[in-house]
Amino acid sequence: MSNLRVQSLERSDASKCAAIRIASLGSLVIGRPPPYPWYLELQIASIQNDLDWKPSVHHLKVVDGDGRDIVADAKWGMYPSGRSDLDQLSQPLDEESKTVDQYGALREAVHEYFCTRNDGEMGSRPHLRWSFCLFMINSDNLLVLALLVTSEAHRGRDAGSSLVCWGIAKSEESGLPCYLQASGQGRRLYKHHGFNDLDTVEFDLSKYGLPGVEKMTELVRKPSNAVDCPQMTQNMALPDTSALGRPPM
Ligand SMILES: CC(C)(COP(=O)(O)OP(=O)(O)OC[C@H]1O[C@@H](n2cnc3c(N)ncnc32)[C@H](O)[C@@H]1OP(=O)(O)O)[C@@H](O)C(=O)NCCC(=O)NCCS
Repeated sequence: MSNLRVQSLERSDASKCAAIRIASLGSLVIGRPPPYPWYLELQIASIQNDLDWKPSVHHLKVVDGDGRDIVADAKWGMYPSGRSDLDQLSQPLDEESKTVDQYGALREAVHEYFCTRNDGEMGSRPHLRWSFCLFMINSDNLLVLALLVTSEAHRGRDAGSSLVCWGIAKSEESGLPCYLQASGQGRRLYKHHGFNDLDTVEFDLSKYGLPGVEKMTELVRKPSNAVDCPQMTQNMALPDTSALGRPPM
C-alpha cells in the first residue's frame, strides 16, 4: 500500500467519510438498503459528535498521495474500564428509523442484533459464555471495531488491514482484546489478522424486501506477542492521538 497512511480523522473529513460509508454500506451494514434523503447529514453529524464529545471513540482515515484523498475509514472504541457506549446502544430504536422507508422492519431487527450482541453482560449472552471462557475474555473491557470501510476503487491495497492493525497495536499495548461483528466480506480480512469466530447469525434478507442472506459473525482477538500485522510497520505512520487529549500509542 505504498503512499497510503493512517491518520486521525478531522471534523472537516466527516462528509468525505460519510460518503465513502454510504457508497459501500448504504444506510445499514446488514442488507445495505439505500440511504434516505437526509441520511448523509445524519452521518456527518454523528461523526462530528463523536469527535467533539467521545474521547473513547477513535475515528481513523487512510489517505492516499498528498493526503487529500481519503480511501478508507474506521471507528474504533477503546474501553479499558467498561463499555461507556452501552447506554446509547440500549436505547430503543427511534420512531423515525422505523418509518422513514420500507426497511423499518430490517432496521428494527438489526438494532435488536447489535443491542443484544453488545450488551456487555455475560449472563444475558449464554451463547457466548463458553466461547469467551475459551478465549479468556473479560467481556466488559475491550477494544471494539464498530466500522471499517474502504472505497471500492482502493480495495486490496492493505488500507483495511492497516486500520485493523491500528487497533491490534493498541490491543498489544494495553492488553485489551479486540472484538467486532463482521460482515462476510470483513470476516475474511479479520481472520488473516488473528481473529477467531465466536458466533454467526444469518439474516434472511428476503423477509425485508432485499435479496440474499447476510451472515454476521462476532470475532475476537486476544493480545499476544505474535503480532501478525506487517502493515503496522510498513505502511503506517500511526496517528498521534495525544493532541486530542487521548493516550498516545
Ligand atoms: C472489508 C474491506 C474493509 C476490506 O478493505 P481492503 O482495504 O480491501 O482490505 P485489504 O486490502 O487490507 O485486504 C484485502 C484482501 O486481502 C486479504 N488480506 C489482507 N491481509 C492479508 C494477509 N495478511 N494474508 C492474506 N490475505 C490478506 C484480505 O482477506 C482481503 O481479501 P478478500 O478480498 O478475499 O477479502 C472492504 O472490502 C470493504 O470496505 N467492504 C465493504 C464494507 C464492509 O463489508 N466492511 C466490513 C464490515 S465488518
